[in-house]
Amino acid sequence: MKNIIVTGGAGFIGSNFVHYVVNNHPEVHVTVLDKLTYAGNRENLAGLPADRVELVVGDICDAPLVDSLVQKADAVVHYAAESHNDNSLKDPSPFIQTNIIGSYTLIEACRKYNVRYHHVSTDEVYGDLPLREDLPGHGEGVGEKFTPETRYNPSSPYSSSKASSDLLVRAWVRSFGLQATISNCSNNYGPYQHIEKFIPRQITNILSGIRPKLYGSGQNVRDWIHTNDHSSAVWAILTKGKIGETYLIGADGEQDNKAVLELMLELMGQPQDAYDQVKDRPGHDLRYAIDSTKLREELGWQPEFTDFKSGLQHTIDWYRKHEDWWQAEKAAVEANYAKSGQ
Ligand code: NAD
Ligand code: DAU
Repeated sequence: MKNIIVTGGAGFIGSNFVHYVVNNHPEVHVTVLDKLTYAGNRENLAGLPADRVELVVGDICDAPLVDSLVQKADAVVHYAAESHNDNSLKDPSPFIQTNIIGSYTLIEACRKYNVRYHHVSTDEVYGDLPLREDLPGHGEGVGEKFTPETRYNPSSPYSSSKASSDLLVRAWVRSFGLQATISNCSNNYGPYQHIEKFIPRQITNILSGIRPKLYGSGQNVRDWIHTNDHSSAVWAILTKGKIGETYLIGADGEQDNKAVLELMLELMGQPQDAYDQVKDRPGHDLRYAIDSTKLREELGWQPEFTDFKSGLQHTIDWYRKHEDWWQAEKAAVEANYAKSGQ
């Protein structure tokens, strides 16, 4: 696997994956295919060696462009997406276009040239789980987590567009022998995450003297994983995963939003109650939780960055040091949220 295409490699998780590959696999050349939407930033790839990483600015829906790149590649790792639930509730159309048509365009090219394809997806395709305290016995068993067998039940335009593309990939494997694997990961955090998302929004609010914003009661649970652990898991699946299989990626990081916000406030020297409760997200998923046994047992993967407090501290430090990376966009992001009372 010498030449890989990473779609969405100028976004949050894709760029962290490109850094991971450059740092750990010196034999690999990466072509990043990225449209540089509001969420993509060429600065995320700054400093990477030009002989190892090439950025092609383009759309994954552009079939001739995709064809010309895929025919020269050994593998495609597909991260490019419209990724934010709140945006999908305001205007679903780019989500349908990029997440469904874009994925279709890529798998058609990979089928034509018999190129290995890895499809990066989300745990949100499974819908949500009840809160642990609402489960009999308080949900101690693994049965209350998502597994690769859990029925698809997405809630938002974003998650249903991701579910649609997962199903296309499964069908292309079965009907056309596409050499594909799929991963469904939980909530990532770390450097380069766009400031519209929960953790960087609150960090940059505090740094800007704005009160953090918690949706609804803050009881909703997310299963946090450091983005570096997501990268090592995708690499393990790409190189050792069984064709046609789905692997769930998670690091046992369940926390409710209120607890995460209170920890951020503590780490940034603010009072625990220095935040506003704002309008809840329509259809807000209650709880996500991943059972990653299959990935750990079959491929020997283990997460490394499991100390959430220190991972969060590093993330806070990164945003503090990289104000030039996010400052110019801050006012517009907040003005957009203000329109919907959030
Ligand atoms: P992001 O929004 O930060 O980045 C998306 C990238 O895709 C951007 O660089 C953008 O320019 C690019 N892009 C968008 N439309 C494109 C198009 N039509 N053609 C080419 N490039 C295009 O997203 P992210 O949070 O890094 O998520 C990356 C992937 O991981 C997505 O597929 C997402 O569904 C999945 N995922 C995300 C999380 C998470 O916690 N953020 C968790 C699990 C899975
Ligand atoms: O689970 C994986 C998914 O995680 C990915 O597929 C998505 O691409 C990614 O955006 C993320 O989705 P969420 O909707 O969980 O992430 P978000 O950062 O938008 O919100 C996390 C939680 O925080 C969610 O319960 C909503 C809440 N929230 C969010 C924002 C922006 C707040 O309470 N306040 C906020 O200001």
